[in-house]
Amino acid sequence: MKTLYSKAIWFLFAFFSIVIGLYPLLYFVFGRQFGVLNSHDSEQLSNFIWNSAFYTHIVLGGLALAIGWIQFNQKLRDRNRKLHKKIGMVYVTAVFFSGLAGVYVAIYTLGGIIASLGFGLLGITWLATTMMGWKTAKAKDFDAHENWMIYSYAACFAAVTLRIYLPILENIMGGFIPAYRVVAWLCWVPNIAVAYWLVENRRKKRLSLKKP
Ligand code: HEM
Repeated sequence: MKTLYSKAIWFLFAFFSIVIGLYPLLYFVFGRQFGVLNSHDSEQLSNFIWNSAFYTHIVLGGLALAIGWIQFNQKLRDRNRKLHKKIGMVYVTAVFFSGLAGVYVAIYTLGGIIASLGFGLLGITWLATTMMGWKTAKAKDFDAHENWMIYSYAACFAAVTLRIYLPILENIMGGFIPAYRVVAWLCWVPNIAVAYWLVENRRKKRLSLKKP
């Protein structure tokens, strides 16, 4: 029963990561009349720096999300360390550029200062936890590495939770902008709380294994 339950969780985790990871491709299929591009003014849409940041953010963010979940599969990790390292480097590089671009687009996001602060802090959290994950892997402190990467992917997974909560919030609050202000925080703060709970569980398990 437990394995069936954890298999279902794994399936959903992988499914949402891949589907939302591929979602930015729709911006290339539908062009400029799609998603948030529909709501920004023409001055913003003709700004070269903003456009570069926006497309860098969504393409590399999608890549990080689509591949990141693989790294948490212990069997795969133990069987092929080299592949784990390669995917890890692609993930860290993608987060670095997508995260920096994400913080930049957060300044000009729809929803004003409340949404800007929410997304901005998310971007900083994503960058900081990922860089710590990379640094601890380099130092071969693999326990700390796994903990930091749990936090990093919890931040990355905000892209999934945002797209689940936003339509619900829009319905409850009766508009896109108020819902966007709330979701800029709600998409990631609970994810970090879940990550904290996972990290604590890992710590307790390790301690109980050490006891004679
Ligand atoms: C975790 C850190 C992230 C931050 C700080 C962040 C920040 C932002 C911000 C501020 C916007 C709004 C742009 C606007 O309103 O003008 C945005 C939009 C977007 N982001 Fe991210 N994002 C993050 C992660 C991701 C990831 C992992 C993906 C991968 C799918 C992603 C894909 C997108 C897409 C496709 C949009 C366009 C809006 C939409 O169509 O829903 N983001 N992001």
